[in-house]
Amino acid sequence: MTGESIDNRAFYDRISSAYDLLSDSSERAARERGEALLKVQPGERVLELGFGTGNTLTELAAQVGARGKVVGIDISEGMRAVAQKKIDRAKLGDRVELVVGDARALPFQAGEFNAAFLSFTLELFSEEDMEKVLGEIRRVLGDKGRLAVVSMALVTGEKESLLERTYQWMHHHFPHIVDCRPIDVRKTLEASGFDVDREERMEMWTMPVVAMLAH
Ligand SMILES: C[S@@+](CC[C@H](N)C(=O)[O-])C[C@H]1O[C@@H](n2cnc3c(N)ncnc32)[C@H](O)[C@@H]1O
Repeated sequence: MTGESIDNRAFYDRISSAYDLLSDSSERAARERGEALLKVQPGERVLELGFGTGNTLTELAAQVGARGKVVGIDISEGMRAVAQKKIDRAKLGDRVELVVGDARALPFQAGEFNAAFLSFTLELFSEEDMEKVLGEIRRVLGDKGRLAVVSMALVTGEKESLLERTYQWMHHHFPHIVDCRPIDVRKTLEASGFDVDREERMEMWTMPVVAMLAH
């Protein structure tokens, strides 16, 4: 594990218990659009990377049913503990496995999953690391798997809002406080060999967010 991901882990450990309070109301609608695009079916094996406090994880677990399985991987033990409580409260522990680990080196077999989900997480990584994460996702999905990504989006050719510019400035100058920034999601996915099947755009506090389905 690199020094960068250890810092990242400490940051998310610190904010894990307050994370829902800070961001659930603003991000929920976008996550749900991504989930709707992924259309998880009963019996499927689904991977969520950077599951955070486990809101989507719990919903995915309900969708895969008793014969399916949801595996989550997140770098933060604090996030894992919060998510595990939700899974236990929903009595879905029998079909969910939570792993504390790094999305850039997935501890899973090739072709193990039917689908993968990622929300407000891809845009945390550097260009080089996004390529690693997406390469790992391709490996564990194999030829037939599908991927849904929800991310803050950089929309080329459109004037950026003040908030978008502020985010980018903060990310550039204070990456440990604002670790994410808008990215060109389609270009990023295509550069890693994914084909985009669907794209939905929405706004979060004047900033563009996209939900994308790819394979
Ligand atoms: C901004 S939060 C988003 C959480 C959740 N997906 C959501 O939409 O609410 C990013 C998550 O990615 C996790 N994360 C950061 N770096 C990671 C890495 N290298 N591998 C796996 N997870 C990571 C963090 O611990 C955190 O839970």
